[in-house]
Amino acid sequence: MTPSAGWSGRSSGWSRDDIGDQTGRTFVVTGSTSGLGREVALELARNGARVVLAARNPDKLDDTEAALRRAVPDADLDRLLVDLADLGSVRRAADDADRLGPVDVLVSNAGVMATPYRRTVDGLELQMATNHFGPFLLAGLLLPRLVASGGGRVVTVSSNGHRLARSAPLGDPQAAPGRYQRWPVYCQTKLANLLFTYELDRRLREAGLRVTAVAAHPGYSATHLLSWGQTLRSSGGLTSILDAAMRATAQSAEAGAQPILMAATAALPGGSYVGPRGPGEWRGAPHVVTSTRLSRDRDAQRSLWELSEKTVDLTWP
Ligand SMILES: NC(=O)c1ccc[n+]([C@@H]2O[C@H](COP(=O)([O-])OP(=O)(O)OC[C@H]3O[C@@H](n4cnc5c(N)ncnc54)[C@H](OP(=O)(O)O)[C@@H]3O)[C@@H](O)[C@H]2O)c1
Repeated sequence: MTPSAGWSGRSSGWSRDDIGDQTGRTFVVTGSTSGLGREVALELARNGARVVLAARNPDKLDDTEAALRRAVPDADLDRLLVDLADLGSVRRAADDADRLGPVDVLVSNAGVMATPYRRTVDGLELQMATNHFGPFLLAGLLLPRLVASGGGRVVTVSSNGHRLARSAPLGDPQAAPGRYQRWPVYCQTKLANLLFTYELDRRLREAGLRVTAVAAHPGYSATHLLSWGQTLRSSGGLTSILDAAMRATAQSAEAGAQPILMAATAALPGGSYVGPRGPGEWRGAPHVVTSTRLSRDRDAQRSLWELSEKTVDLTWP
């Protein structure tokens, strides 16, 4: 099925009313147990979509599924257990996804921000693994399902933080860092999300596949992103203080989910990037936005693609 035809660029802007009936369409949403992903899943379920909750924590998946069913009693929900920071887990999840049939939209939303230095089981730095390499592998392995839908889409959630990245993350991803700087690395992962999106969209077109790639960012939205990154804990102590600080200063997660929902459902050309229209793109209703010159650098896009293929051991599309 094709994306919602309810909105096609009219000047009055996009709103959630434009999502339209999504019955019969399947959306896989990563990071659906918290923050933006949970709001995206809820709104899609309200509009009749089959929503596949993709997440790493079975207990949180139970809680999320129960909450969504309370809000939308006839929600069409499925689940996929995946730890994006573990390439083996991503491969197992993709195998499990065989039972899902065609997938219309993969919303690659899960992410971590400014975590302390950690190496994953694959020897990768945690932020790059979670925010880029895992999602790169998942998208590649789900491609046949996206193609099978007849008009699939990959939506990747980036950030205003991509603007602060001074260079693309093209170093050896398994090398020990000289000096690990958690915030610059986060910004590089969010630049990677855009380099990936633009390169993927071009490669899909060149391959003649009816799948597009777009990106979105939520401005500044109240979620657990900051607290998790600083404490690696879901609740208590500093985690609760940081969550409260975010709630006091940011727009709601519900508002932050709107650009992602627009990117996932509106009739947009491949390579579009959607974000809030308010000052500095920090908050507000969604519209198509621009990204930095570095994110549009064709050499950086190609180099990151080749590095990613080698790192996850998958050549695609
Ligand atoms: N909030 C903002 O202001 C903001 C701004 C710009 C961009 N973003 C982007 O928005 C996206 C969503 O973040 P959020 O703000 O909603 O934060 P959040 O509330 O912390 O949610 C992050 C989600 O990602 C999941 N996740 C983390 N590591 C994972 C892994 N290894 N495997 C699978 N899932 C994993 C988390 O799972 P658990 O529930 O198990 O922890 C959680 O569901 C991120 O990509 C972030 O970079 C957010």
